[in-house]
Amino acid sequence: MNALTQTWVTVGLLSDIPIRGARCIKNGDMTIAVFRTADGRVFALEDNCPHKNGPLSQGIVHDGCVTCPLHNWVISLETGIAQGADEGQTLSFPVKLEGDKILLEVSR
Ligand code: FES
Repeated sequence: MNALTQTWVTVGLLSDIPIRGARCIKNGDMTIAVFRTADGRVFALEDNCPHKNGPLSQGIVHDGCVTCPLHNWVISLETGIAQGADEGQTLSFPVKLEGDKILLEVSR
């Protein structure tokens, strides 16, 4: 039997991420992009656009969303859902701050 448990893991410091930018971390085979908004919030999405797998970590962060660098789809940082007329969703992960430390909830 494979029982997965959820665990909060420290993945870096807020000060390591540029404002309106992202840093990538690996979780097994998956790359997770941790984004920092202009007002200091953090969000975590799989670094994989729901359109054609563009690297969301290289997109522009604005208004609680990230614009994919390949074809400009706008993805909600909170839900991973494509905005506007586009349809699709990328995985999102719970993430929180403890002081400057970024903690990500992952399955183990
Ligand atoms: S791959 Fe992201 S918009 Fe096309």
